[in-house]
Amino acid sequence: MTSVQLMMRYVLTVVGLALAFLLRAEDGHRLWLRMERNAAPAEVRVAGPAKKTVTLAIAREELADFWKGEERLVLSVSDDAPGRDGFRIRRRGQEIQLSSASDIGVLYAAYALLRRQQTGQLLSDGQTVEESPSYDLRILNHWDNPDGTVERGYAGRSIWKWDELPGKLSPLYREYARANASVGINATVLNNVNAKAEMLSGDMLRKVMAIAATLRPYGIRVFLSVNFATPKLLGGLPTADPLDAEVRKWWTGKVEEIYRLIPDFGGFLVKANSEGTPGPQDYGRTHADGANMLADVLAPHGGVVMWRAFVYQPSNSDRACQAYEEFVPLDGCFRDNVIVQVKNGPIDFQPREPFSPLFGAMPHTQIMPEFQITQEYLGQSIHTVFLATMWKDCLDADTYYDGGATVAAVTQHKVSEKSLSAMAGVSNIGDTVNWTGNDMAQANWYAFGRLCWNSHYTARQIAEEFLQQTFTDDERFVAPMCQLLLRSWNVAVDYMMPMGLHHIFAFSHHYGPEPWCNLEGMRPDWLPPYYHQADSAGLGFDRTRSGSDAVSQYHEPLATIYNDVHTCPEEYLLWFHHVPWDFVMSDGLTMWENLCYTYYRGAEEAARFTDLWREMRPYVDAERYAAMLKRFERQSKDAVWWRDACAQYFARFSARPIPADCTKPVHLLQDLMEFHLDIDNYTAADMEKLP
Ligand code: GCU
Repeated sequence: MTSVQLMMRYVLTVVGLALAFLLRAEDGHRLWLRMERNAAPAEVRVAGPAKKTVTLAIAREELADFWKGEERLVLSVSDDAPGRDGFRIRRRGQEIQLSSASDIGVLYAAYALLRRQQTGQLLSDGQTVEESPSYDLRILNHWDNPDGTVERGYAGRSIWKWDELPGKLSPLYREYARANASVGINATVLNNVNAKAEMLSGDMLRKVMAIAATLRPYGIRVFLSVNFATPKLLGGLPTADPLDAEVRKWWTGKVEEIYRLIPDFGGFLVKANSEGTPGPQDYGRTHADGANMLADVLAPHGGVVMWRAFVYQPSNSDRACQAYEEFVPLDGCFRDNVIVQVKNGPIDFQPREPFSPLFGAMPHTQIMPEFQITQEYLGQSIHTVFLATMWKDCLDADTYYDGGATVAAVTQHKVSEKSLSAMAGVSNIGDTVNWTGNDMAQANWYAFGRLCWNSHYTARQIAEEFLQQTFTDDERFVAPMCQLLLRSWNVAVDYMMPMGLHHIFAFSHHYGPEPWCNLEGMRPDWLPPYYHQADSAGLGFDRTRSGSDAVSQYHEPLATIYNDVHTCPEEYLLWFHHVPWDFVMSDGLTMWENLCYTYYRGAEEAARFTDLWREMRPYVDAERYAAMLKRFERQSKDAVWWRDACAQYFARFSARPIPADCTKPVHLLQDLMEFHLDIDNYTAADMEKLP
């Protein structure tokens, strides 16, 4: 080795050590709240006659600990400040005033100021910012079971430690509350929509009370999912008929018991007559009968009912139609304190769906969107898919109600003075150290809160501020990673289910492709062939006027646009149409060619994500870098798996070759069809077992 080489080696080692020190291992537990604590507290005081609440004390402490500016901070609760959780931040010389009509508004202001500090958006002298949330209820739905498992959870077990409660309070509860408050989330449903009756037992309620007490200072109200048959299953009544006097009496007593323990209890979330759960239809009653009975019982306490519209029966020839058919006739029949909770699309959180036609179809009913933060259908905790893009696509979609109104507008509109607007997100949180399994999936929890707070934020703005706070504000990292996040949803759709394909997943666990899955005796609407309808003529589900007529559930001009194969947006082509393989698309290529090229493009882009992540190495701590690298590598392999499975499987029907300029498949279709993923105890360590 020459002396120059020796010298170089020495320099590199020193630089490497310095970098390693700077980028010391991070386990992701701190989420986007990675501010360094001040050695000496910043100057913060609470002005005016405000009651010294715990919430104000938290706001003050957060700022004292983490505010790095020169300015003095003054917090105040005052009637002339914005209400409904809103706030004002004003800088006057060397003083910054944070005010709101409520203490929780002041806490939101504190987090907003710290976010500005972290993202370099400092206030200039004389500047005033005012914010107030788009939705009243910004609510997470945990699909957590009393036994600690999480339905569709990919980040460990439930953070609610029911065995230890109420005696022992895990530190996770407070950290959870803080993280949520920092993005404006103000409500949470603790348990699975597939609810166990035992959730309402006296024992469980005392545990719920302990959690509620920990979350309360952070402005978070607790809700529970309830099993509609609880009066039977837990109360021992012979029926759960919502019109039965004894049933109503049982619920009245139960609700009084809950409010004695939890005076600010939020209310119930109900999945009724859906996928086998009990409900009012078991007694010949309607969804409105069921929802209103519970709403009446909750109303004197200020509680609300979130009644889900996720319903479908195998008897319906098109699953996409049923929610609309069951709920639209009930428009105007629901109480003020009922909110009908509607998944973003008409089927079930698929990689890409058009918005549900229920948005804009029930003008006399409070409707709320339900998004899925947990990535059941989008690569679980392995793939990086930034969902703000998808949610914006839904929120910004024009329903054409009354000449034109977006999904955001129709869901933010209050149908009565007493109604509350709301948005729900199915949580991706578990007890794994970094909360969400995949460090990048924290972005989806973050984005959900930010979009509830302001549905006008752009996906780009949210991605940027997330990356700056959670990783680094170095532009060499933020700019390319922001691009990656913004592309990631489209890329996943391309390699999984492009052009409107949907529900062609492996059975039950929904990880990986299985368009061929046709288990004997299984409900057809749980099987991929029901959705893709591949045959020698073409591909896709005919939902036109001559098919299932789902198109007619949309307002004009959408119904006509979707109905015509020549005007239907190409991203929904196979959602609404059974399209001939040789149908010529806008780029002059056939449907079959486009299908293949899109799968190939998706896989190529996924591979580029991995390359890009490798280039990010200098900017990321070693621990998160390595954890994400493994995931990006697996994601690009999965994309090839999807591509090879789908292109080769559909080729059997199209009887056309995969275009010659596409590379040869890596996998044989037969091998993929024989592969079965046993995912029950699937962890990141099992990634190597995949094709
Ligand atoms: C999906 C999911 C289920 C869940 C259901 C629901 O079908 O796979 O696990 O229970 O949605 O939203 O109720």
